[in-house]
Amino acid sequence: MKKPDTGQITSAVILISGHGTNLQAILDQIISDQLPIKIILVLSDNPRAYGIERAKKSGIPTKIINYHDFINKADFHQSIKDNIKKIDPDLVVLAGYMRILSTDFCRLFKGRILNIHPSLLPKFKGLNTHQRVLESGDKYHGSTVHFVTSELDSGPLILQHRTRIRPDDTPECLKKRVQHGEYQIYPTAIRWFAEGSLKMVDGATFLIGKRITTPEILEDT
Ligand code: GRF
Repeated sequence: MKKPDTGQITSAVILISGHGTNLQAILDQIISDQLPIKIILVLSDNPRAYGIERAKKSGIPTKIINYHDFINKADFHQSIKDNIKKIDPDLVVLAGYMRILSTDFCRLFKGRILNIHPSLLPKFKGLNTHQRVLESGDKYHGSTVHFVTSELDSGPLILQHRTRIRPDDTPECLKKRVQHGEYQIYPTAIRWFAEGSLKMVDGATFLIGKRITTPEILEDT
């Protein structure tokens, strides 16, 4: 169910599993007053995620729900859901979160979960995207911000960053360029959501009231 519009600042929970460079890009924009959201929790399934340190440095509440502390997957999913449900954020931001969300969770926060994926979706869903794109011979690579539905990397697309693949590219240097683009498009899409211009309606992306069938694209400079 959708939360009523209270006119208050958008509250967000950020889910991470690792380095948290996207989290940092979001934090930087909040600090410089370019992103009108309040992060009420950074949650990690990985106790060693460096993103937790980043959040602590910014004075943001953190929580670890370690996947390996649970006997079965269902209990882990239940714990994630219960912990987020009780603080009821306006938005859930997946920023390098390496676990698949339960169908139940996706239903509960429908239209309120964003993810960033390191490929030009619908191409290269899943892992090892930089290696796979190089093997494919494609001319372009990049990243995509999309709404999350219960089908992996398949929710409605919002915004992409695109970079041309160079003859001497390796997965490592490509990753660097792709992530640089991520730091631009993720805060932008989150801002659109916070300002009320971005919505998911009937399984489609709407931007300023208009349904978009192809994502907006930001080119490498
Ligand atoms: C990013 O490349 C993102 O596209 C993918 O995981 C990576 C997370 O990096 N989902 P970081 O933890 O934000 O540094």
